[in-house]
Amino acid sequence: MSTVYDIGVLPGDGIGEEVVNEALKVLDAIQQVYGFQTRREHLPYGAEHFLKTGETMPEAAFDRIRDMHAVIFGAIGDPRIEVGKLEFAIIAGMRHKLDLFVNLRPVKLYHESLCPLKGKTPEHIDIMFCRENTEDAYAGIYGATKKGSEHEISLQQMVYTRRGTERIIRYAFDLARKRGPKPGKEKAQLTMIDKANAVRAQDIWTRVFEEVAKEYPDVATEHAYIDAACMWMVKNPEWFDTAVTTNLFGDIITDLGAMLIGGMGIAASGNIHPGKVSMFEGIHGSAPKYKGQDKASPLATILAMALMLDHIGQQEAKKELEATVADLLQTGRIRSLRAGDHKCSELGTMVRDEFLSRARARA
Ligand code: IPM
Ligand code: MN
Repeated sequence: MSTVYDIGVLPGDGIGEEVVNEALKVLDAIQQVYGFQTRREHLPYGAEHFLKTGETMPEAAFDRIRDMHAVIFGAIGDPRIEVGKLEFAIIAGMRHKLDLFVNLRPVKLYHESLCPLKGKTPEHIDIMFCRENTEDAYAGIYGATKKGSEHEISLQQMVYTRRGTERIIRYAFDLARKRGPKPGKEKAQLTMIDKANAVRAQDIWTRVFEEVAKEYPDVATEHAYIDAACMWMVKNPEWFDTAVTTNLFGDIITDLGAMLIGGMGIAASGNIHPGKVSMFEGIHGSAPKYKGQDKASPLATILAMALMLDHIGQQEAKKELEATVADLLQTGRIRSLRAGDHKCSELGTMVRDEFLSRARARA
């Protein structure tokens, strides 16, 4: 009997449904080639569900998900609903309640035409960001007093626990070690990005990083403040290999990273708890203006699915899926990832067909 994985499918809002459908189309072909199966359970949460039922995401849904292997997620966000409400309940809900403490965000350039920087080619841009995913300004501790008055005070706490800081830093060191040295380098490199010179609470990051580093003499360490790191990303992205950072800075710098590799149409992410159910999504939002128009690129979700394949133990399938996408971009068959330049469904079909034809060629 072949292996069966339980996969939650949460398309969400806006373009979520169309990009997830394309990813599933590709998954069908992958299963056929690699001989595994998936039991897929549709999770209806998002704006429509909320408007119909008043429910964001019930506890029972988190309980169901806990027994699954992974969730494929589209996007959340709808202009009809109060900013942050669904994002907090569903995206942050999954990250926090399922304790998905790693937000893994690859920034890998597949073709130089996708990069707005002069003279940068795929050999210059191959970064793995490990964004902490459960703490910092996202801990949900905030409030305001005298709201609306000229004396209003508004507060939000940045929270860093020893456990939360240490586990993401350890994950990043392990990942750096696994990735190994970049071509021409002697050692793998891990850069820790914080702002401990201004946000003194982040001093815990500096200390824990130094401490854990002693256990990884084979990994070279670097440190950069977030403002400088943003500068280096644009000036010398080749300087980065694996990087680890706090939740909020990780959110911001990975959007910058996305723009170096072709934009939101290709930037993937995995919300991971090693060994437990994890959630995979493009880093883009729901882009309501493109909803239902078959214009949005599904590559971000497809590459997020590659991270999912790695997570559930299908490493060969993961590598082959990434190689398929890389080949389509490098040969110019996918010309652009801007919304509308290719149809969403066309891109899904291209990836699926190329995946199958590469498998036939190997057979
Ligand atoms: C992301 C998103 C979310 C975040 C939003 C939608 C809450 O921007 O996944 O990067 O800030 O983490
Ligand atoms: Mn973001």
